[in-house]
Amino acid sequence: MSQSDERANRSTITLHMVSSLDGFIARHDNSVSWLESPDDAYERGVPEESAAELIQGIHCYVLGSRTYEHALELGWPYGDTPTVVVTGRELPAVKETVEFYSGDLRKLVDEVLAPRYQNIWLVGGAMLCDSFLRLGLVDEIRLAIAPVLLGDGLRLFGASGSETRWRLEDVVAYKTGFVELVYRKG
Ligand SMILES: NC(=O)c1ccc[n+]([C@@H]2O[C@H](COP(=O)([O-])OP(=O)(O)OC[C@H]3O[C@@H](n4cnc5c(N)ncnc54)[C@H](OP(=O)(O)O)[C@@H]3O)[C@@H](O)[C@H]2O)c1
Repeated sequence: MSQSDERANRSTITLHMVSSLDGFIARHDNSVSWLESPDDAYERGVPEESAAELIQGIHCYVLGSRTYEHALELGWPYGDTPTVVVTGRELPAVKETVEFYSGDLRKLVDEVLAPRYQNIWLVGGAMLCDSFLRLGLVDEIRLAIAPVLLGDGLRLFGASGSETRWRLEDVVAYKTGFVELVYRKG
């Protein structure tokens, strides 16, 4: 059994991103007002707080350096959960829970993450997610769709490799009008 097969038995990598209706994850100026939406936009939806339990079950976040730098500007959203930042640069660690990784992403998963964490969330950005998808390292995709067309910006997925089938596991509609789609590798 390969290391990747062993990983499949004990840890899961979930790619989680928020996209606009037209497939963008960020504006060119990095402003985030497009992520705001009133709590009463969709009456039959569930409240955002219902996602709290899910978030508590995350053992580790993985992110690219640009997402890390943007998170530092906006205010740290990952709490005390261990967070691994992929970068080839020397960056400041803002918390003890942050560590940096440079190098082969398969080794990151098989040797650094999987032995320590079961529920691993890859939370962007586009460049790092594309790399994970190309290498077949993603087990689950959780895509939240925001009720807005941005018209322009940073694309959700670029050249992420070959065609792969994903099985719809769940759909959650929130009161804010956001819809979360959950897919497992088919
Ligand atoms: N809507 C959402 O859900 C969401 C989620 C996350 C981020 N975002 C937004 O997306 C933007 C950032 O995304 P991005 O695609 O520009 O950048 P990114 O993926 O966050 O970071 C790219 C950087 O990560 C490192 N990296 C990525 N792939 C690598 C690999 N295979 N090997 C080694 N290092 C690798 C490199 O760091 P170095 O250059 O330091 O070596 C690279 O420059 C921000 O605006 C952020 O706010 C949106």
